[in-house]
Amino acid sequence: MKKAKDYIIFALDVDSSDAAEKFVAMLSEDVGMFKVGLELFIRSGPDIIKIIQRAGAARVFLDLKLHDIPETVYRSMRIVAGLGVDFVTVHCGDSNEMISAAVEGSKGRVKVIGVSVLTHIQGKDTHAENATDKSGLDISALVLERTAMAKAAGSAGIVCSGREVKTIKSRFGKEFIVVTPGIRPDWGAVSKDDQRRVITPVQAVKNGSDYLVIGRPIRDAEDPRKAAIRIKDEIEAVL
Ligand code: C5P
Repeated sequence: MKKAKDYIIFALDVDSSDAAEKFVAMLSEDVGMFKVGLELFIRSGPDIIKIIQRAGAARVFLDLKLHDIPETVYRSMRIVAGLGVDFVTVHCGDSNEMISAAVEGSKGRVKVIGVSVLTHIQGKDTHAENATDKSGLDISALVLERTAMAKAAGSAGIVCSGREVKTIKSRFGKEFIVVTPGIRPDWGAVSKDDQRRVITPVQAVKNGSDYLVIGRPIRDAEDPRKAAIRIKDEIEAVL
């Protein structure tokens, strides 16, 4: 059975491989996956993957959020396929060609996860139901539209806010992976900062999310390990 720690993806949003290694060594017992994002990847290059695996990262989420013409995405993904990571992110874009190219390039060696709509995007009142962005666009509808496109293109799952999880699970099936960022425990010092469509870890799991991307609530805690364990225990209690 999936353990509580396996729900947690810790975002290694740090500026050096030393700092990344330290966090991996500190958290690998309590976190199932580590996310390498643009900052660390640009700083340290692809070698960072091996470095954190040696430090104890069992699974790696490479958050490159690729967005380019299909040919470029395909060629880049052929290289990503050899890096030994578990998941990689690709923007859904305006048509399914980019994701299709990514899936083809992945050769089945890494799961392609589509990024639907970034969770910081919102209008004034997006905490309300039927939230719209500043131009009046219905964000949840856009997320669902892009998810349908990503699934049709062969992606393994989608990144979306906790608010859309239930609908996505019921519409696209249990096997379609849902990754939720914008996680904020109802304790702890981290404010909502630039994440707007936020949700607690427990609520995200209850809604059916498969993985929670958590960065600052752990990274910036006075005791990061303690914060990770507290989140893990909260998840455990609702499994
Ligand atoms: O928990 P915290 O807000 O610090 O997490 C931020 C992380 O979540 C960043 O690494 C960011 O790239 C990632 N993320 C996001 N929204 C998405 C996808 C990923 O904030 N839609």
